[in-house]
Amino acid sequence: MPVITAVLGDITTQDVDAIVNAANKAMRGGGGVDGAIHACGGPAILRDCIARFPNGLATGDAGWTTAGDLPAWRVIHTVGPNYRAGQRDRSLLEACYRRALDVADELGARSVAFPLISTGVYGWPRADAIAAAIETIAATRTRVAEVRLVASDEAVYKQIRAAIWLQCPPLVGTGTVGSLFEREPIQYSLRGDPYLWRELRARFADTPLPGDWFTLRTLITDTIAQVVGEPLANRESTPWHDSTAAIHLPEFDPGHGMSAGAVHLPWWAHTGVPILLDRYAALRGSEAVQDD
Ligand code: APR
Repeated sequence: MPVITAVLGDITTQDVDAIVNAANKAMRGGGGVDGAIHACGGPAILRDCIARFPNGLATGDAGWTTAGDLPAWRVIHTVGPNYRAGQRDRSLLEACYRRALDVADELGARSVAFPLISTGVYGWPRADAIAAAIETIAATRTRVAEVRLVASDEAVYKQIRAAIWLQCPPLVGTGTVGSLFEREPIQYSLRGDPYLWRELRARFADTPLPGDWFTLRTLITDTIAQVVGEPLANRESTPWHDSTAAIHLPEFDPGHGMSAGAVHLPWWAHTGVPILLDRYAALRGSEAVQDD
């Protein structure tokens, strides 16, 4: 399975073996990603589209051309379903990612950068498009080692990053702060909190455990404040079940209506952080026993 990362930037500047274009069936250029790739890559790309795809490309299919003046070696064009025009078959969107990886394998490409196919002009609901991309890439047998999901907008980048950390959490090293997050507590209808839990786990995947619990607590609570935008201390006197304390974070909202994508700071103050500190104490206690 390739390593999947979220990247905030412009797809045309990605220095990878192949970048993926969100094309249309005609394969003669367009707007959005398509327009940017043709504008930055130059006329060689259009010439290759005409030569290699005289009859265009079917929705869900993919094919490659030269990358012209782009930093990438090849462009893999794929045509997403047009949600706005009523094409709602998710398997066609999934096919874009699977076929693009097949073409990358034909090319021997080892690094590929994707935009979020169909989420611009074609209007596919973004949270579901992100899930479809990650699920399909993670499930596809491919020799591609690195896949970037590139967003030109920071809010979209955060949403992709949170979804990757939720669906494909990175390995955490032993003796790291991230290792304290290995087992998730049962969330009692706290919908956005698993996203925050996984995000903290990923952020601390390589952070060595500090020597004392107060440093650990400060590290965790400062990071929660940075992600959520509000200090945990503000909510320590709020009862954990007070739903008015819910803070909505768009990047934690999978968009299927069930989840408010909300984080409940009172739960973190009363339960989440104490659980982590207790695990730290148990770990330190076991190490102390081993040292004796
Ligand atoms: N880099 C990264 N992402 C980008 C860039 C860029 N330079 N430009 C746009 N995006 C984002 C958009 O914000 C959107 O989230 O890429 C996603 C795909 O948007 P579109 O390019 O509009 O692609 P799509 O929704 O699949 O529609 C394809 O639009 O541009 C035409 O010719 C294209 O007809 C085709 C249709």
